[in-house]
Amino acid sequence: MDRGPSRSPMSAAGLWALVLSLALMALSLPRPASAAGGFRCRPGARPVVFNFGDSNSDTGGMAAAKGWHITPPEGRAFFHHPTGRFCDGRLVIDFLCERLNITYLSPYLKAFGSNYSNGVNFAIAGSTTLPRDVLFALHVQVQEFMFFKARSLELISQGQQAPIDAEGFENALYTIDIGQNDVNALLSNLPYDQVVAKFPPILAEIKDAVQTLYFNGSRNFWIHGTGALGCLPQKLAIPRKNDSDLDQNGCLNTYNRAAVAFNAVLGSLCDQLNVQMKDATIVYTDLFAIKYDLVANHTKYGFDSPLMTCCGYGGPPYNYDLSRSCQSPNATVCADGSKFISWDGVHLTEAANAIVAAGILSSAYSKPNLKFDQFCKV
Ligand SMILES: *[C@@H]1O[C@H](CO)[C@@H](O)[C@H](O)[C@H]1NC(C)=O
Ligand SMILES: *[C@@H]1O[C@H](CO)[C@@H](O)[C@H](O)[C@H]1NC(C)=O
Ligand SMILES: *[C@@H]1O[C@H](CO)[C@@H](O)[C@H](O)[C@H]1NC(C)=O
Ligand SMILES: *[C@@H]1O[C@H](CO)[C@@H](O)[C@H](O)[C@H]1NC(C)=O
Ligand SMILES: *[C@@H]1O[C@H](CO)[C@@H](O)[C@H](O)[C@H]1NC(C)=O
Ligand SMILES: *[C@@H]1O[C@H](CO)[C@@H](O)[C@H](O)[C@H]1NC(C)=O
Repeated sequence: MDRGPSRSPMSAAGLWALVLSLALMALSLPRPASAAGGFRCRPGARPVVFNFGDSNSDTGGMAAAKGWHITPPEGRAFFHHPTGRFCDGRLVIDFLCERLNITYLSPYLKAFGSNYSNGVNFAIAGSTTLPRDVLFALHVQVQEFMFFKARSLELISQGQQAPIDAEGFENALYTIDIGQNDVNALLSNLPYDQVVAKFPPILAEIKDAVQTLYFNGSRNFWIHGTGALGCLPQKLAIPRKNDSDLDQNGCLNTYNRAAVAFNAVLGSLCDQLNVQMKDATIVYTDLFAIKYDLVANHTKYGFDSPLMTCCGYGGPPYNYDLSRSCQSPNATVCADGSKFISWDGVHLTEAANAIVAAGILSSAYSKPNLKFDQFCKV
């Protein structure tokens, strides 16, 4: 189909000049109010958050779903008892909720003590994007949301109570933090080039999730990139032939390159969605940059051993042993978790999560660089 005037051939220099002038125009023009111009939330409305993801933001969903008896020292630094979070305290999502002045998100599957008036957490530890129909893939989490929404609106239409009404769903912030387990699983089985070639179907799932939510009326999105996989003690403790893959901070290059490559395509996807969904705002935050900075500049943040777990086994250099991991009876636990980035080899300590959350809230790692607390203007 002809989409406009026929193209005239252009020299490379002419093309470059055009690209440059367009780029300069983009810099000098005021940002349009619609596309990525800001969140949609009625001023004064109560902030509502729906979260989707893996253990990075699971506030107790997997423990509830599987009836896992999570034992101390989980939760010791803040809640003073295990909550189902894989952490000594609060997760990044908890700090974000604090910033919005709302209570922590209750897991969708938690039968007792849940309060969904500020939103729902669908994140489940271990979740991936693919395969899409297994428990608790991103697609399944989105279907759970659809069920929750349809049921809520149905109850309200019958004159009954539901924690969130139609306006709440429309104004809500939809946060997604997933992909780490997909990238990790690929790296365990394939060489780097083949790993990167497998990203498009993963991205397609994230795109599908956002579009499904969008077509259902969601307008505010916040999407996290994946973290510095190559700095996780669990990865570093895998036996290797030699240290040629270690970078200047002692992290595994191959894992980190894959994380960076994944984030590059995820960031582009968010750009593309911002263009396509003109009345929606999709903020992308580069969690790799935030989490790698923690390791590279650990002394600045008060961390002693950036590549060692607090809760694990075996001592330096990583204090990680798969058969004696944090939830096993033989694990040892450090005295002061605030000196460690890694809690259990895979998940960060509360101290590290607090700094990661500050990075997200700063907007310095986000595009568009909207302030998180611009959402609902708290
Ligand atoms: C936070 O919310 C509580 C009630 O939930 C309210 O009393 C308090 O004023 C709020 N704080 C801010 C800073 O908005
Ligand atoms: C649920 O949380 C909201 C907001 O924090 C609060 O107003 C409400 O009282 C809570 N409901 C219950 C049953 O605790
Ligand atoms: C959202 O999805 C539900 C069912 O999944 C559908 O009934 C409803 O019409 C959708 N809402 C919008 C605004 O598309
Ligand atoms: C280190 O191991 C990699 C494969 O893991 C190999 O390609 C490389 O040649 C090795 N380097 C040395 C110096 O042995
Ligand atoms: C470490 O901190 C310095 C100074 O703030 C900063 O310029 C640099 O980018 C940081 N390193 C990483 C890997 O983030
Ligand atoms: C854990 O400790 C017990 C008692 O010290 C020992 O019998 C068992 O083999 C240990 N298990 C592992 C996996 O180290």
